Amino acid sequence: MTTRILTGITTTGTPHLGNYAGAIRPAIVASRAADADSFYFLADYHALIKCDDPARIQRSRLEIAATWLALGLDTDKATFYRQSDIPEIPELCWLLTCVAGKGLLNRAHAYKASVDKNVEQGEDPDAGVTMGLFSYPVLMAADILMFNAHKVPVGRDQIQHVEMARDIGQRFNHLFGAGKELFTLPEAVIEEEVATLPGLDGRKMSKSYDNTIPLFGTAKQLKDAIARIVTDSKLPGEAKDVDGSHLFTLYQAFASQAQQAEFRAELEGGLAWGEAKNRLCQLLENELGEARERYNALITRPADLEDILLAGAAKARKIATPFLGELREAVGLRSFREQVQATGGEKKKAAKSARFVSFRDEDGSFRFRLLDAAGEQLLLSKSFADGKAAGQASKALQSGAELDVRGEEQVFSVWLDGERIGESPAFADANALEAAIVRLREALTPQE
Ligand code: TRP
Repeated sequence: MTTRILTGITTTGTPHLGNYAGAIRPAIVASRAADADSFYFLADYHALIKCDDPARIQRSRLEIAATWLALGLDTDKATFYRQSDIPEIPELCWLLTCVAGKGLLNRAHAYKASVDKNVEQGEDPDAGVTMGLFSYPVLMAADILMFNAHKVPVGRDQIQHVEMARDIGQRFNHLFGAGKELFTLPEAVIEEEVATLPGLDGRKMSKSYDNTIPLFGTAKQLKDAIARIVTDSKLPGEAKDVDGSHLFTLYQAFASQAQQAEFRAELEGGLAWGEAKNRLCQLLENELGEARERYNALITRPADLEDILLAGAAKARKIATPFLGELREAVGLRSFREQVQATGGEKKKAAKSARFVSFRDEDGSFRFRLLDAAGEQLLLSKSFADGKAAGQASKALQSGAELDVRGEEQVFSVWLDGERIGESPAFADANALEAAIVRLREALTPQE
């Protein structure tokens, strides 16, 4: 079976060496595996959330496209496209928006960080927060679910978003799948092996620290950046602290075992830092020199890049267009030419509300379960000695009074008057747990 791997690159900056080692290089390697079906795209709609400088958006799209191609992404094998060339993505985004819980999105890190910062500064909590930022995870879910990706390689900061895509996809499946899995539920993949490169000052290489080494700058720019790498003040001839040196860490990310051992021995033998920087420069030149030539050639042919990306979009839409058709059907956006099923609507309605099911346990005690709209168990009560007590408890839960729900690791429990009266099944992780609490609250909100 092939594994569909999908990831997006936000087009707000120019790729640097850290992006190359941490994301681009491993992605291109992974795309070559025989059983891999890779989807890589420029997340340019996401870029608009973070950046309102049109010139920068456009430059970054071009640079990122040229970078991936120059580094050897094979567009016959992988599907490479711009998010904004796939109109099915924003359309799916809306369908997902209609099932994504606001409570779920309230907990997204990026949004929460903005709110926390505002509160700290005594501002309105939502000052400067756009709906784009708030809905960022829904658009990302659309990117992923549109192509039924199995694996989504991302940085740690994006794990939560992939889990939200899972939750939203699962919810959609329950509501509209009629027993069928419409969406594949994706998994985040964190490449533990992959180097997180230190920047010039030893902190993580990042544009926001201004400590990056350009990927396809001129040979001179590369040399100048490397000259700025901070080292200690050991003199030529003195043994260097190899493992405490981020210059060595940088070298390591691009060197063979043998090269690493040799460089280590030289540094311990007193190699001057200036000379060590020359070695790193040479190593990077060998790694990237040819790709830089290709990059420079590509960047001067934007029309060709346009054609390549449009071909990628056409390939992606061969999947997206029919699939979105299916999804529109599923939610009830159907052609009038088809006969409307008379009972369809009502059945849906009945299935849509949560329900309590009471039963007697083997030992004769009384219990109840609360099932959500999709029939999934949200809560199993404790054993009550008699049916009346069980009935009162389930009634109290539906009274609309403030619920006492307590999250405990993988389960949540529900309390009434200081007594633990029921608990949920175990959920896979904190996000699934929180999503279930949201569904519990929905289920217990009195309805007209
Ligand atoms: N949000 C991701 C990032 O900032 C980029 C992205 C957008 C993405 N859509 C995606 C990554 C879908 C994986 C899958 O890194």
